Amino acid sequence: MKSPLPRLVLLLLTVATLALAGLPLSTARAAEAPAVPTDPAVIDAQVASLLQRMTLEEKIGQLVQCSSLSNATGPIERTNLEEQVASGQCGSMLNIIGAAETRKWQEIALSRSRLKIPLLFGYDVIHGYRTIFPMNLGQAASWDTDLIEQSERIAAMEASAAGIQWAFAPMVDIARDPRWGRIAEGSGEDTFLGSAIAAARVRGFQGGGLDRTDTVMACVKHFAAYGAVQAGRDYNTTDVPEITLRQVYLPPFKAAIDAGAQTVMVAFNDLNGVPCSANSFLLEQILRREWGFKGFVVSDWKSISQLIPHTIAANGQQACELAYNAGVDMDMEGRIYQTYLAGLIKSGKVSSAHLDRAVSAILRAKVERGLFVDPYRFSDPAREKAAMLRPSSLAVARRLAEESCVLLKNDKAILPFPRTARVALVGPLADSARDLLGSWDGQGRASDAITLRTALVDALGADHVAYAEGCGFKPGDRSGFAAAVAAARKSDVVVAALGEPWYFSGEASCRTHLDLPGDQAALLRALRATGKPVVVVLMNGRPLVLGDVLAHCDALLEAWYPGVQGGPALAALLTGAVSPSGKLPVTFPRDVGQIPIFYNHMTTGRPQPDDQPHIQYKSNYLDVPNTPQFPFGYGLSYTRFAFRDVRLSSPTLPMNGRLTLTATVANTGAREGTEVAQLYIRQLWGSVTRPVRELKGFRRVELAPGASAQVSFTLTPADLAFVHSDMTTAPEAGKFEVFLGGDSNAPKVGEFTLLPR
Ligand code: NOJ
Repeated sequence: MKSPLPRLVLLLLTVATLALAGLPLSTARAAEAPAVPTDPAVIDAQVASLLQRMTLEEKIGQLVQCSSLSNATGPIERTNLEEQVASGQCGSMLNIIGAAETRKWQEIALSRSRLKIPLLFGYDVIHGYRTIFPMNLGQAASWDTDLIEQSERIAAMEASAAGIQWAFAPMVDIARDPRWGRIAEGSGEDTFLGSAIAAARVRGFQGGGLDRTDTVMACVKHFAAYGAVQAGRDYNTTDVPEITLRQVYLPPFKAAIDAGAQTVMVAFNDLNGVPCSANSFLLEQILRREWGFKGFVVSDWKSISQLIPHTIAANGQQACELAYNAGVDMDMEGRIYQTYLAGLIKSGKVSSAHLDRAVSAILRAKVERGLFVDPYRFSDPAREKAAMLRPSSLAVARRLAEESCVLLKNDKAILPFPRTARVALVGPLADSARDLLGSWDGQGRASDAITLRTALVDALGADHVAYAEGCGFKPGDRSGFAAAVAAARKSDVVVAALGEPWYFSGEASCRTHLDLPGDQAALLRALRATGKPVVVVLMNGRPLVLGDVLAHCDALLEAWYPGVQGGPALAALLTGAVSPSGKLPVTFPRDVGQIPIFYNHMTTGRPQPDDQPHIQYKSNYLDVPNTPQFPFGYGLSYTRFAFRDVRLSSPTLPMNGRLTLTATVANTGAREGTEVAQLYIRQLWGSVTRPVRELKGFRRVELAPGASAQVSFTLTPADLAFVHSDMTTAPEAGKFEVFLGGDSNAPKVGEFTLLPR
């Protein structure tokens, strides 16, 4: 590797020469077109030199992020945005979309602000930019981290061609409450799976390096414990013991940061009495001191000003002081830093060293993104045009949609049905392109999405598909039932595409009832009464309570919101071109009253055995069993799998050793299929209570009929570590049980002892 010194000297000389000549640094650099700096010393030198030339107001300007009015993703007031950018009072923008639009705003910053510091454009690229992939919870059901990474690579390629340099993703909030609408945006209830997916998403966004024009900077959110909002109501309070915070909620953030995420967004909620936007325990102690985070922290939308209704700040100035001191670097659409920070610094109430740290981290990101080399490198209309909806991107969207669907019921192997079948296609989601996209659909368009109706007609022929909507999502109008029932009577099989409209999940979209909205359940009963086999294709952003639905269908395929290629993926699954392989990333309750329900719970001192009826004085309910409708990790296939020859390399694991579990997974059915082999462990006792089981590994295994393959998992003591009462994380000697299979009820396959040091 070359020494950074000559480049550093050259850079400082160039900066000084340009400054003396009064030339805009960025324009001159663009003419020279030097490489984007990747050497940390060079980057730091450029940042330091800029910082030296900035006034207090210009520094604060870098901490201000403004949204466009037209695409606002929260409540917004009208301001003179142009003037603000021109005067260097806004360092970053969100919701400005497209090569032309980002170029327009960049030009204002470059041509009119004194220091010509380029803007950083951020956007919610949650499950695709233009090529919309399945909703995130659905993606998690694929358990396919490679494919998820590929989807983010594509999202980054598209977004970056449209001027976006920074994605407000991945959202890594562990969620155990399906009433919360934002459960759809995350990877479900499990920390191990969630961490693996969090890292994959960051790799996908940033793959190849942030100096490249086809990557976007990741922003891991929402820090922290947003998924634990009380009663599943968005923005609500959270009360999470530190041990649970560290054990359950924080690891996916750490995984994303270890994978290279350099920005973090705080959560809206208060955590144990301190709103996350003023939470120095989270931002200074954990993030910066314990994890060594060197990037920058952005607030959520107006979350700094929300410290006032949160009742910890009496006014804007106090909110400013609290957030700034707690370590929030950038104020998203809040105008609090813009209004109060200069006064607080001038009066000496807050430290200005802190300001330099925040500004430096933001400038460093801009330098790394190459914005000082060419501020327009992400705003290229030709690249933008060529980047969207490429056939190769659509192929990934199709594959991910296929892999995300979970077969929850398939009585008498009703699925797949033959291509010769006459199908009655019914339901409000059978032909709704918009719903396929789900919430947070970026720049996705309904016209890009292929519905189940279109895809089934393509696959089976128009004369084999009789479509009738049946009903919408609102109760009361059953006028479409008769046509739906008539279509069913003439069919060999009924496919009912039911569920929630897309706007029932996502931000501020929580529910107390987890049933099918409107008259859909009644429609299903009417269809069932025809005596024809009924297949339900469910589209929804959360686990639903499905008892009533299951009682009136023969098969049920959970499709979440499957994205632009949802229709073709579903048609391929229904007709057997592809076998379902998705596995639930979240538990499905029998009843809302069981919530929160998740697989890795503790036992209690009076555990109720799952396989026995209600026992008095045990931990249970009088009216509903403890067990879920469908457990975490569950999902059927068109074929069957067996796990054989399970071997543990040793009955003991020394503290400096490793243990390997090997097994054969066999496809014992007549069709090709993919099993997700899941490894769980249970520590029988420890210094704090231990969960009934915990996921520690998974592998997707694709197998032809009759074929088998070996899987192996390696466990080290570090994999068995857990958080202790004193908040340290370490493994503890003791006895462990091991479970291997296709869901979280996998049978026990062995035991081992972790030996003391
Ligand atoms: C609020 C949401 O909580 C956050 O996830 C999103 O990134 C911002 N708005 C910007 O749209």
